[in-house]
Amino acid sequence: MEQVLASLYPWLKAGHVIFVIFWMAGLFMLPRYFVYHQESEPGSAEEARWVDREAKLRKIILTPSLIAVWVFGLLLASSIGAFAQGWFHAKLLLVVALSGYHGWLTGYAKKLARGERKLSGKALRLLNEVPGLVAVVVVILVIVKPF
Ligand code: HEM
Repeated sequence: MEQVLASLYPWLKAGHVIFVIFWMAGLFMLPRYFVYHQESEPGSAEEARWVDREAKLRKIILTPSLIAVWVFGLLLASSIGAFAQGWFHAKLLLVVALSGYHGWLTGYAKKLARGERKLSGKALRLLNEVPGLVAVVVVILVIVKPF
């Protein structure tokens, strides 16, 4: 099994990075959608279109990418023995937090679909910075491997 994973390593890494791009793109887009959604008239046809766009973004891009990133990432980790390395523990902590953020966004989309608008546009714009900052640290951890 270890040998098979080792021979697949470049393909696993390619798959991982491809889905990381899709996942991050979705994580950047969804809160943007929320901002525009909240600027629409409650009960309007435009609001219904945002609910639909948000559901499609989650179902077609975000959820499948989250699963693929985790599957490829964990296979990569087994193939290089990353579970015993410090940088990987730090990365794992951050990607668990990022997955939690994804889950929170899903919850917020469901609330918005029910007409609940809990956060201001400004708060949503600020939250939108979170995945970018996490991605910077994750990429440094995985490429520089400082510890
Ligand atoms: C969700 C769970 C994740 C797991 C379990 C995971 C695990 C891994 C592992 C084990 C590697 C191989 C490292 C190596 O060969 O030296 C890797 C590579 C990589 N990961 Fe992740 N990762 C995850 C999420 C992410 C996220 C969210 C990002 C970016 C925001 C990311 C960016 C990268 C990049 C750019 C590489 C390629 C680094 C290189 O060129 O060696 N990963 N990942």
